[in-house]
Amino acid sequence: MAETSLFCQINSLATGPADVAKKHAPVITVPANVAVGQPFTVTIKVGEAPHVMENGHFIQFVDLYSGHIYISRVDLTAELNKPEVSLSVVLPHEGKRTLRAFSRCNLHGIWEGSKEVNVTK
Ligand SMILES: [Fe+2]
Repeated sequence: MAETSLFCQINSLATGPADVAKKHAPVITVPANVAVGQPFTVTIKVGEAPHVMENGHFIQFVDLYSGHIYISRVDLTAELNKPEVSLSVVLPHEGKRTLRAFSRCNLHGIWEGSKEVNVTK
């Protein structure tokens, strides 16, 4: 059953119901420090606890932003994917950046997770 209220906002670990949030809020893994202009790997796993990928209930996509700047979207398929993606990313400017990941569950709406990364020369 879709939870309608979850579709009227961006949900997170801080705002969502804890049991639902655990399975939906994206968890970003990235080195704390990365080199400006050099590729590094960002891994986004949907949920601290595994989320199902069944027909009728699955994670539809994962988006990655640096602050408000769009970087990537990965579309996922029920039964044929697990909701975990790895991306090679290059950040061209020095400074602290907030990587923000969004995932969408067809029954539980959009969820955000974030992680700071320090971009240095
Ligand atoms: Fe879900």
